[in-house]
Amino acid sequence: MDFQALSTAYTGEAAAGYDARRAPTTKWLTEDETVRDLLRVLPPGASVLDVPVGTGRFLELYQERGFKVAGRDISPDMLRAAQGKLNELDGLDCSLDLADIRTIPEYDGQFDCALSVRFLNWVDARGLEDSLRELRRVSKRYLIVGVRHWVPPRDLLLNGPKGLRRFLRRYLIDLRRSVRDWFTPRPLRKARTNQHEREVVLHTFSKLGLRIDAQHLVEHGRDGTDYFLYRLVKETV
Ligand SMILES: C[S@@+](CC[C@H](N)C(=O)[O-])C[C@H]1O[C@@H](n2cnc3c(N)ncnc32)[C@H](O)[C@@H]1O
Repeated sequence: MDFQALSTAYTGEAAAGYDARRAPTTKWLTEDETVRDLLRVLPPGASVLDVPVGTGRFLELYQERGFKVAGRDISPDMLRAAQGKLNELDGLDCSLDLADIRTIPEYDGQFDCALSVRFLNWVDARGLEDSLRELRRVSKRYLIVGVRHWVPPRDLLLNGPKGLRRFLRRYLIDLRRSVRDWFTPRPLRKARTNQHEREVVLHTFSKLGLRIDAQHLVEHGRDGTDYFLYRLVKETV
């Protein structure tokens, strides 16, 4: 999906039903646990930028840890949901505002950590690089980001019967999508995520001077993808 389409995708019903559709899933719970773990390097009082903050799924965790938080998102409806959660919390130091991840209106190195979950797979390789560059700019030291990788067929097939099942399922999913697209006018087609090749992502990290400090596999997708959460450290370039 391009940035323009993405900027209006999470409004109305998509925003209102966002948590209810996702929160009971294993993926969501594993992400929560993993982010909790990756944030352990930060002391109480640390400043965190969460963009896109969405419905504010991590606000309670930030409060538990005593962080100072800035949540930014391009969707007013998602921010409204986040504000609802913030109102329920007692004393979290948090500002919520509209912003585009490509032009974050904060100064260089303003936050101890910049976090971005469930975003980088909605943009192409160029969008991935632009977003990471901006997150890096506003972070003093850490980035925490989620990226879903496309696993090459060779690696899937080397993984025994499970790998073979994932390989076949991916091709069935691709086939189903192509058939559906064939019969659906372009403006009505369902949005698709971008499955970045791991090599491209690792190359982008190193190009931007971002070292992997920790990485966790969140899930082996049934569609032959691997979803990772990374904690990255800024290196001087
Ligand atoms: C899949 S949701 C992820 C929200 C949250 N991080 C989570 O894990 O639930 C994607 C979010 O990206 C936001 N978004 C889309 N384009 C954006 C942009 N250019 N800048 C900032 N946020 C954007 C959407 O409004 C939506 O809230």
